[in-house]
Amino acid sequence: MDHDAFRALEPWCWRAPSAHNTQPWRLRYEPDAIRIGWDPAHTLPVGDPTGRDLRLSLGAFVETCLVVAADAGLRLEYVADHDEQHRWVGSLRPAPERYPTPFRTSDVWDRRTDRGTLTGAVDPETLTALEAVARPAGGAVRAVPDAGRLGTLLRTADRRQYADPAVVAELRQWLRLDPTHPGYHADGLTDRCLVLSRPAAVGLRAALAGYPVLRPLGLPRLLAAAGGDPLALGGTVLVLIAPDHLDPPGQVEFGRVLLRAWLTLHTAGLAAHPLSQLIDVPATRAALGALLDVAPQRLLHVTRVGRPTRPAPRSARRVAAGRA
Ligand SMILES: Cc1cc2nc3c(=O)[nH]c(=O)nc-3n(C[C@H](O)[C@H](O)[C@H](O)COP(=O)(O)O)c2cc1C
Repeated sequence: MDHDAFRALEPWCWRAPSAHNTQPWRLRYEPDAIRIGWDPAHTLPVGDPTGRDLRLSLGAFVETCLVVAADAGLRLEYVADHDEQHRWVGSLRPAPERYPTPFRTSDVWDRRTDRGTLTGAVDPETLTALEAVARPAGGAVRAVPDAGRLGTLLRTADRRQYADPAVVAELRQWLRLDPTHPGYHADGLTDRCLVLSRPAAVGLRAALAGYPVLRPLGLPRLLAAAGGDPLALGGTVLVLIAPDHLDPPGQVEFGRVLLRAWLTLHTAGLAAHPLSQLIDVPATRAALGALLDVAPQRLLHVTRVGRPTRPAPRSARRVAAGRA
């Protein structure tokens, strides 16, 4: 197995998306395989206690590796071999053919989460294309019909999350609100990616630093309001729905589906802005399930989708082109 050829592609593989941009994946080069697993230091035990977003992010990484390898002419396939105890999900192994995918490394490189203004509704052809991505895995994609109701749910979810000191402490660990932060060019969520003006970023930093004192004075409500209303920035809210009783390896597989869905949107000129808080908070997850008439445990990912009005900033990576 040509390890060097794959190693050279790592900066592009690392463009995979992950919750809070923690980049939880790790690779181990073995004689006949490249193992993919995760590093607990780069997970979100408080905000993602079930590991749902961890496994979606790992699946997104697996799919990104396959797309990038195929575009470089490497013949690799993914073999799942989930080992929760030792924190491995599977491995890339030599294959007779290149991985079949319509996507290119340039799509992986150009795709970005866009938290800014998104215009237009998702057209029926794109919805059909997304369905075609989700259906073979037993999933579905649905547009949320009642945007007004969703606004109330989003405010509730934000407030509940900001009211939890442990969630806020973990978020703070991954926020990069000042360009002098040592991790600014490596990982986490930067002020630029969060579309925060300088005064807003400075204000948010100050508010989070004063959180223990200010919390009883209504800070969670203020923080939730400071984030603005993403729904006012346009777009259609789409939900990825999983089959019932999806186990951990199944969630990794759906991370692959998620990446394919995001690249499908990207190649259609659209961008995604996930709103995971809606399904992280049990009450809003239940309400969203009721709105869609779907069992709440089947809601796997929620995202606002639309046409970007300007290029979103590129997020940081620990392994980057030119710095690998
Ligand atoms: C499973 C998953 C959940 C995510 N949830 C959120 C979210 O709730 N809110 C948000 O703004 N971004 C969310 N994101 C987007 C990540 O923050 C983003 O992928 C990461 O910062 C890297 O940026 P990029 O997508 O532009 O490469 C999520 C991404 C993944 C893979």
